[in-house]
Amino acid sequence: MVRWIGTSWKMTKTRADAAAYAEALRAAIPPGGWPGVQPFVIPPATAISVVRDVLGPSSPIIVGAQNAHWADAGAWTGELSVPQVADAGATLVEIGHSERRQHFGETDDTVNQKVQATLRHGLTPLVCVGEPVQVRATGRAAEYVLRQTATALNQATAPSAVLLAYEPVWAIGEQGREPTVAEVAEVTEALAAEYGDRISGVLYGGSVNPANARQLLQAPGVRGLFIGRSAWTADGYLRLLRIATDVAQQLHPVPAQR
Ligand code: PGA
Repeated sequence: MVRWIGTSWKMTKTRADAAAYAEALRAAIPPGGWPGVQPFVIPPATAISVVRDVLGPSSPIIVGAQNAHWADAGAWTGELSVPQVADAGATLVEIGHSERRQHFGETDDTVNQKVQATLRHGLTPLVCVGEPVQVRATGRAAEYVLRQTATALNQATAPSAVLLAYEPVWAIGEQGREPTVAEVAEVTEALAAEYGDRISGVLYGGSVNPANARQLLQAPGVRGLFIGRSAWTADGYLRLLRIATDVAQQLHPVPAQR
């Protein structure tokens, strides 16, 4: 059972910064990769091809896009389609991050259309879901997130390819509060119970850092971590990959390579 450990760089990094980060990662890949761990990085769109090229075609690190439109092409000024981000080197598409829902009008329905477009082109959708603080206060976080997810995955043709990231809005970014494992588990267990092995897994995201990663990675229902700030340097990301490898080894020891 692989642990997914990924980072979105959001709106940070020039192409030169991205190349330097990717080069540092490439140089640090252990001989057998990170056993039990599937890493992914999501650069800004301008740097997807840079990161893909520096890592090389056979890298164990997946490269993704932070967004893609539901249409394949056309008069959608400022947007990028799934075929375009795939052409740049992305094999995964992040969809419906709360910053996009809050500032760019994304809804459960547009998220659903983007999930379908991503699956239609054979890429992996990473669907972000999570409740705002007001909903958490009512005690209905799991119900809210289950409903959000059901709409996002409505008529998904290949749900087994889907990754979910549970990201409570109140836990994300500079103003975010670190959640307790119990707060995370309340929702991730409900998602795991509902979707189980029908999807690739449920990740947790929001204020992940090296001090809480081990605990969060072992929260019930959690199969990986989706990280912002703590992985914006290659060293920070590598540290989290090592923690995840350690956890994966403890839970499912992989024999050392000869
Ligand atoms: P953060 O961001 O780790 O900086 O809180 C997480 C996210 O937005 O996915």
